[in-house]
Amino acid sequence: MEIIRTVKHLNEVVDAARAEGKTIGLVPTMGALHAGHASLVERARKENDIVVVSVFVNPTQFNNSTDLQTYPRTEEADCALLESLGADYAFVPSVAEVYPEPDTRTFDLGPVAEVMEGAMRPGHFNGVAQIVSKLFAWAKPTRAYFGEKDFQQIAVIRKMAELEGFDTLEIIDCPIVREADGLALSSRNVRLTPEARAIAPRIHQVLLASRDLKAQGMQPAEVEKAVTEAIDASDALFRTEYYRIVDALTMQPIARWDEAGSRGTVGCVTVYCGDVRLIDNIRY
Ligand code: PAJ
Repeated sequence: MEIIRTVKHLNEVVDAARAEGKTIGLVPTMGALHAGHASLVERARKENDIVVVSVFVNPTQFNNSTDLQTYPRTEEADCALLESLGADYAFVPSVAEVYPEPDTRTFDLGPVAEVMEGAMRPGHFNGVAQIVSKLFAWAKPTRAYFGEKDFQQIAVIRKMAELEGFDTLEIIDCPIVREADGLALSSRNVRLTPEARAIAPRIHQVLLASRDLKAQGMQPAEVEKAVTEAIDASDALFRTEYYRIVDALTMQPIARWDEAGSRGTVGCVTVYCGDVRLIDNIRY
C-alpha cells in the first residue's frame, strides 16, 4: 500500500488507473479506524480493481472546537490496518493540502440537511459536502462507500452528488458494525469513561425494544417519546438530544408508520453519554 500526501499524486494515480479501464472504490474516513471502517474497505476491495481510503480529520465539519481538538488521531495504526485489508492507497493529506484557501462554498442541501444532525450541528453537513465533493473530484471513484451508522450523512452526500453532477458515481450504503454488546463502533468510543462504556450498549437495546412498541400499536410520536424517556431513565449519565423517526429517504419526520411506504422508516438517536456524543439508528 502506498501513502499519498498530495492531490497531484492522487490525480496521477487515479488517472492512470482509469486510463487502463480499472474501477476505483473510495472509502472516505477521518481515521482512528475500527472494524466499522474496515467493513467498508473490505466491501470496496471485493467490488473494485483499485481501493483508495482517505484519512483526513476535516476541520470544516466540526462545529465544536473541543471535539476537533480531541478527535483521536492514530495515523500509523490506521495505515497498518489499511495495508492488512489490502487497500492500494491511503490518501492522508494535510489541512493545507486540502484547503490551500478557505472553502467558501455553501451547498443548497435542502430538507435532508435541515433536521436532526443538521439542526443540532449548524454547518456540519455543509463541511461534509465540502470535503466529500473534493474527494469525489480528486479520486474520481467508480463507487464510494459510506456506513449507515451516519444514516443522515448518506442522504446528504447523495444530495451533494446530485447537485454537483457526480452522476456516474455509485454511492453504496453499508450496514452498521457493532460491538458484541450492541454498541455501534465509533472513533469517539475511546473517549467514554469505563462507567459510560458500561452503560452505552443500552442505547441499542432500547432501540431494539422499540420495535415491539410499534408492533403493539404505538404511533411514531409515542415511540419517540418512549425511547427518549427509556434511555434517559436508564442512567444519570445519559442525556438524549433527539430521537426522531423519519422517512429513510427524505429524512423528514413521519406521523404514521405507513407514510414512508417502500422507502422505509428509520429512527435516529443522538445521546450524550457523559460528555461523549453518540449516534445510532434502527430500521423499523
Ligand atoms: P468517519 O466518522 O471516520 O466515518 C467514515 C465512514 O465509516 C462513514 O461512512 C461512517 O458512516 C462509517 N462508519 C463509522 N462507524 C461505523 C460503524 N460502526 N459501522 C459501519 N460504518 C461505520 O463519517 C465521516 O468519517 C466523515 O464525515 C467523512 C464522510 C469521512 C467526511 O469527512
